[in-house]
Amino acid sequence: MYNVYQIRKDFPLLQQEQNGRPLIYLDTSASAQKPECVIKAMSDVYKTTYANPHRGTYYLADKITELYENARETVRQFINAKSPKEIVFTRNATESINLVASAWGRLNIEAGDEILISQAEHHANLVPWQQLCLSTGAKLVISPISDDGDFIKEEFIKRLSSKTKIVAISAMSNVLGTIFPINEITQAAHSVGALVLIDACQFAVHHQIDVQNIDCDFLAFSGHKTYGPTGIGVLYGKADILQAMPPYQFGGDMVDTVTYEKTTFTDIPARFEAGTPASVQAVGMAQGLKYMMNLGMENIAAYEQELVKYTLKRLSEVPKLKIVGTAQNRGGVFSFAVGNIHPQDLAFVLGKENIAIRTGHHCAQPIVNRMGYNSLARASLGLYSTKEDIDALVQALLKAEKFFRKN
Ligand code: ALA
Repeated sequence: MYNVYQIRKDFPLLQQEQNGRPLIYLDTSASAQKPECVIKAMSDVYKTTYANPHRGTYYLADKITELYENARETVRQFINAKSPKEIVFTRNATESINLVASAWGRLNIEAGDEILISQAEHHANLVPWQQLCLSTGAKLVISPISDDGDFIKEEFIKRLSSKTKIVAISAMSNVLGTIFPINEITQAAHSVGALVLIDACQFAVHHQIDVQNIDCDFLAFSGHKTYGPTGIGVLYGKADILQAMPPYQFGGDMVDTVTYEKTTFTDIPARFEAGTPASVQAVGMAQGLKYMMNLGMENIAAYEQELVKYTLKRLSEVPKLKIVGTAQNRGGVFSFAVGNIHPQDLAFVLGKENIAIRTGHHCAQPIVNRMGYNSLARASLGLYSTKEDIDALVQALLKAEKFFRKN
């Protein structure tokens, strides 16, 4: 039984009040709050087990190496990869995508090739590809999104060809909330010989991921969105593809032998983890993933889907509120505009009531513009969100709408 009120007790920050008002945190898409077990696991490492992994033979060095590699195994389980060798720790999903665009892209993309993305990609899954195209003469092809924020399969298929070398696509939009048909997309891309990178930044927060079932070649997500710390992310890559890629950065821990003349590089995944790794963050990230797995990814998804329905119903009660992104298959991300009230003004009024939402272009200017806006307000759900949070949001929006109408 999913008891959200019990679950909320695991999150110290959610207990915090501002000016006597409880925190209504509706910005999990930007970054999630952390359960006590994540905070404790990280603090325990610093208190009892901290040293530099992979570099010493003393007790602490062995212990931290074990914890770091156990964290990799937890990530493997979380996404059902075949082997922990397929899990590369990065700084965040943005770095994971940059790693692929740089290391794989440099070797495999040339003038005349095409890279296919959707119109809904956030900057992290757009700018690295755009820059790769600029430096190679390849073409960035954009698959359109419908007016209701949905993926248009026929348009995507039309843009696939033998020129397409990689498809890079979100599993869930951070602006529209749309969930993309990643299995179908992967199958279609593979049929023309293209690789597939799934940006699972938003999807991983809410849904079970099985990379073997999706059959994607790469997948990226961040620790801080999956209830873990900042400074850590993951790149999954199929072992044979990672094996064939040159290093992304150079330095300690990714080499075999080094002379003044020549360096040979070590095996995956260490080849892509130059320098002292974020071991404590990896432990924290693993703890966040374990926390989610213990609750059960299906239970989290089922609970949140109910809350999505409730939120849509309640938001429809606010006069002049327009939800941007109304696809059928959607998750708990709601971008909206209320009449011509500037989203910054809305957020300011809500902020006074200790309601945290995000405003602006959500690091995804092109899709916000495509939907006809420069800036939007956005409320997003996490596994700790409640109907009461939504009620508070709606009440504050009603008040704000009335206030701005009069003034
Ligand atoms: N990409 C993050 C967001 O959607 C930061 O807010």
